[in-house]
Amino acid sequence: MNSAAPELPVDALDVLRKRRSAKWQTYPADVLPLTVAEMDFALAAPVADALREAVGRSDAGYAMATPGLGRALAGFAARRWNWDIDPASVTAVTDVGVGVVELLRLLARPADAVVISPPVYPPFFDWVPEAGARLVEVPLARDAAGWRLDLAGLEAAFATHPAAYVLCNPHNPVGRVHTPDELAALVRLARIYQVTLVSDEIHGPLVLPGATFTPLLTVPGAAEVAVSVLSASKAWNLAGLKCAAVVTAAPRTAAVAARLPPDTRWRIGHFGVLAAVAAFTDGGPWLDQLLATLDRRRALLGGLLRQRLPMVTWHPPEATFLAWLDCAALGPDDQARELFLGRGHVALEPGLRFGAAGAAHARLNFATSAGILDQATARMAAAAA
Ligand SMILES: Cc1ncc(COP(=O)(O)O)c(C=O)c1O
Repeated sequence: MNSAAPELPVDALDVLRKRRSAKWQTYPADVLPLTVAEMDFALAAPVADALREAVGRSDAGYAMATPGLGRALAGFAARRWNWDIDPASVTAVTDVGVGVVELLRLLARPADAVVISPPVYPPFFDWVPEAGARLVEVPLARDAAGWRLDLAGLEAAFATHPAAYVLCNPHNPVGRVHTPDELAALVRLARIYQVTLVSDEIHGPLVLPGATFTPLLTVPGAAEVAVSVLSASKAWNLAGLKCAAVVTAAPRTAAVAARLPPDTRWRIGHFGVLAAVAAFTDGGPWLDQLLATLDRRRALLGGLLRQRLPMVTWHPPEATFLAWLDCAALGPDDQARELFLGRGHVALEPGLRFGAAGAAHARLNFATSAGILDQATARMAAAAA
């Protein structure tokens, strides 16, 4: 990665406020939204070109993901992660949420248990009951170094024979990149207790300088027990376009993917497929620039927090553009988040949305300009004073 690469530009606030997406429509105009995982950078040129060309062709019909999506993802995974994906093992789905829910419907009988590890991306709490399964929580373990998988807790839960474990790899909101050893231990448990691992790897391309992403299916022995769900939507900011990919690497899991609802292919966004293929094929240089920019924002945020909000602590994330802030010094539950919003007019995600383990935390999205981060932390400091 070229660390001297120019930073990605961000439009001025009044231009950003013209966006019609959720991030920019949820709060009144005097609130700085550092909430939902959308980025403020301009689209990657290859992605914008692909979309513009499609509009020029009036090419807005149904999606045709095969074989382009599998080939593009396989090429990207081989170049970036040395991960050998068979393009034929890639099944397009509407988004990661649809992919996980439909997989869980196939893996779990009604009221079977499915395990998750809070604090975690809030929809995990909804996806399990949506699939008709019963939620079992094994919170992440926390020590002075940060948050990590609680392998002993997972073993105890796996011993009760849940149908599946939904892994967040890397983990939103704590930004943890699970190590090869941790993932190998997880795979060993999954094989012993016959628990299928569904690995949400949407943040895989967003591993920041200093850490290395391990796709679960590259771990020895994982293929027989794991299914991965990936998307270009976080790293290239395409969430509204609706396209993700389920990846398998063994006959048993491929047979599960083969039973995904046949109409899924008609529920994928055509622009999502075009944008994802462009991103995976030609979006590597832009992604490098993004990661270099996010690395600098992470450092900037660390400095601003130290200077202005020393009572707020964090472990800088190894991946994602999300900062998981420990605000316990400012009050229990979501009090700090309410203070930042009510008095500072800065919106963060409330920690309790990520589970009980998220109490007294807030999640801050730093995929924005240095100026907006400067303004937001100044307002948060004034609110906390
Ligand atoms: C871990 C995780 N999974 C899934 C999603 C959403 O993905 P999709 O919009 O493809 O369902 C997000 C969005 O931020 C996420 O952080």
